[in-house]
Amino acid sequence: MNVPTAYHSTQARLLAEPRSWLVTGVAGFIGSNLLETLLKLDQRVTGLDNFSTGHRRNVEEVQCLVTSDRWANFQFIEGDIRDLNVCQTACAHADYVLHQAALGSVPRSIQDPITTNATNISGFLNMLVAARDAKVKSFTYAASSSTYGDHPGLPKVEDTIGKPLSPYAVTKYVNEVYADVFARCYGFKTIGLRYFNVFGPRQDPNGAYAAVIPKWTAALLKGDTVLINGDGETSRDFCYVANAVQANLLAATTDNDEARNQVYNVAVGDRTSLNQLYTCLGEALLAYGLGSTQSPQYRDFREGDVRHSQADISKARRLLGYVPQYSILNGIRASVPWYARHATVSARDAG
Ligand SMILES: NC(=O)c1ccc[n+]([C@@H]2O[C@H](COP(=O)([O-])OP(=O)(O)OC[C@H]3O[C@@H](n4cnc5c(N)ncnc54)[C@H](O)[C@@H]3O)[C@@H](O)[C@H]2O)c1
Repeated sequence: MNVPTAYHSTQARLLAEPRSWLVTGVAGFIGSNLLETLLKLDQRVTGLDNFSTGHRRNVEEVQCLVTSDRWANFQFIEGDIRDLNVCQTACAHADYVLHQAALGSVPRSIQDPITTNATNISGFLNMLVAARDAKVKSFTYAASSSTYGDHPGLPKVEDTIGKPLSPYAVTKYVNEVYADVFARCYGFKTIGLRYFNVFGPRQDPNGAYAAVIPKWTAALLKGDTVLINGDGETSRDFCYVANAVQANLLAATTDNDEARNQVYNVAVGDRTSLNQLYTCLGEALLAYGLGSTQSPQYRDFREGDVRHSQADISKARRLLGYVPQYSILNGIRASVPWYARHATVSARDAG
């Protein structure tokens, strides 16, 4: 795919005039990818994280990927968004806030709705208040495709949502409601990005709540059998992380007032079934001489999962100039070397 013009000019503008950014959840998967891109664009970044699901190694990996001059532009705050003081300190000098910190995972929220609620709703509200009071130029936050809930329509269009299917989906929907109320009550206009199954380097393959692509890749690399929930015809709009990074930078820096106080789908606009994903991952690994060719095993459908998901991305394209640079296939090919390296390091550390 071609390099999108709006993103190109946003990057050029930022390089010419560096800004101060706050990335919450910076030690996580998407947060650390935002950090890497921002530092490579010579931006000043404050990162906030409490390492509940993120890892110090993600931040350290970014350090290895940027020059020491650029690394000097990064400041880390270890803290919790459930503490308003922490949020206030973190927002103090920010031009742009990219709020990613949250407890992800539908099953985790079903297991522990209270902690998910405290982080994703109370923590979100703290961040809104702190960012509003610090008079930041923009506040962009991680929303979720889970907000479409039980609405069967495809592709998903921002204005038409159903009932939430999990506590996690409730929290992400409440974020949007709060964001809208902050525009009405305080004139504080934000942008929500409804991510659709983001994947890529530094997405955690371990633990009970790992996402499908890192989990399966790790299993294939180890020669373990992959377990598919349901019949494998469940489908998703898998989105490589560089596309999500692009959406964040465009949203944060937009000077189009019509684009603010909105939510946007962030995806590719394609639909891939789990069976297709399995084949695609297997082929991508084989191209590197990795992985195994065994068949997957099928088990029950997972509670709280929606059957199909595919985004209409025309709103983000129209108002933000978002054009995804990576298809699922290109994204998987770009991710495999990282997973291969990570699997080697994990095996060495375990040995
Ligand atoms: N990855 C996806 O496919 C996807 C899809 C939809 C929405 N999202 C949203 O995107 C955001 C980032 O997700 P991710 O995939 O990078 O997950 P992640 O778990 O890798 O990152 C989240 C980060 O937030 C931090 N965090 C959690 N609670 C915190 C707290 N109380 N205080 C400070 N930091 C805290 C974690 O330690 C972690 O580093 C989340 O808001 C998530 O809900 C992700």
